[in-house]
Amino acid sequence: MTAAGPTTVVDNIGCLVTNDPALGDGPLGVAHGAGVVIQDARVIAVEPAGAAADRRIDAGGGCVLPGFVDSHTHLVFAGDRAEEFTARMAGQPYTGGGILVSTSATRAATDEALRALLAGRVAEARRAGTTTVEIKSGYGLTVDDELRSIRLAAEVTPEVTLLGAHLVPAEFAGRADQYVDLVCAEMIPRAVGTARWVDAFCEVGAFDAEQCRRVLTAGRAAGLGLRLHGNQLGHGPGVALAVEMGCASVDHCTFLSDADIDALAGSPTVATFLPATDFSTRQPYPPARRVVDAGATIALASNCNPGSSYTTSIPFCIALAVREMHLTIEEAVAAATTGGAAALRRADVGHLGIGAAADLVILDAPSYHHLAYRPGVPLVRTTLTAGIPLYP
Ligand code: NIG
Repeated sequence: MTAAGPTTVVDNIGCLVTNDPALGDGPLGVAHGAGVVIQDARVIAVEPAGAAADRRIDAGGGCVLPGFVDSHTHLVFAGDRAEEFTARMAGQPYTGGGILVSTSATRAATDEALRALLAGRVAEARRAGTTTVEIKSGYGLTVDDELRSIRLAAEVTPEVTLLGAHLVPAEFAGRADQYVDLVCAEMIPRAVGTARWVDAFCEVGAFDAEQCRRVLTAGRAAGLGLRLHGNQLGHGPGVALAVEMGCASVDHCTFLSDADIDALAGSPTVATFLPATDFSTRQPYPPARRVVDAGATIALASNCNPGSSYTTSIPFCIALAVREMHLTIEEAVAAATTGGAAALRRADVGHLGIGAAADLVILDAPSYHHLAYRPGVPLVRTTLTAGIPLYP
């Protein structure tokens, strides 16, 4: 048996969000005058301020929250699509077709170049408070390029998703079913052991419900967890399919019918909203208020990608969720922490209960309200991942 390591206390906390009702008040389990004691990368106690420990981290009176759980990103890519964004601001619609532009650039990039780009984006996310990040492939679209993307992603996170069914690559134009055969017969079996999840883009112009069902069925048979992009660009079968297949999460949910909302409310599938996408594509925002009021579990994620949402900032997503989607600040903070954890079926992150991962955000602000109240301001003083601070 190995001896327990040194203890650290995060102290002088203005307001502590635990997400554990046993440790504080209200839905976020908010405690005042408390310190968080950490040992061996776990929270071992939440005690009155001034607790003894081997090391002390001074929160400076700032708010402390569980690290953000960003359950939807596409961080493995090369190339730049700033001009596409600018054209969109001038009136061009977003169609998803630019995925193939990023695919060409990603295929052409060396492993070292992709690894460096990925590391830069993960570091940027961490500076904004993200401590758990899901990363999808989807800009390779050949067996080797998709496997390379998930291998690189696995170097930085355990939450790796195979998104071979992101778009039909140019060499399969007009042969989407044959491309789906390749995803099911070759990509998925070879992703086992590296990817934890399989995903597909269920949308007009990408893959239809039957093609997505084939991908999800093959993924489940191979032992992968299921996720789905659905209802991003218009109403469609994505949400119903995700619920039917028992996906952990259906992501985007921008266009929802009453039946979609009822289905979400009666299922364990999390509705993950990606409001930075709706911001960056000038779409309407999802009817999140109705989804929450119906009783469904929701998450908020960045969808960081080069086309529809080039941001790693969960605080920005929280501000959008409050301002544009009419969530309360408490609902938005919960969606970015416990909601993200639910979308990844993780019990160890998204809260600061005893035994949780010691993943914390310390804000340069006295309360979590500032995340929406001060949009665009870099409020994160530091982020602790497994008890290790980003800035000592
Ligand atoms: O979630 N929906 C599909 N994939 C990404 C967009 C990718 C891109 O445009 O490069 C999304 O929006």
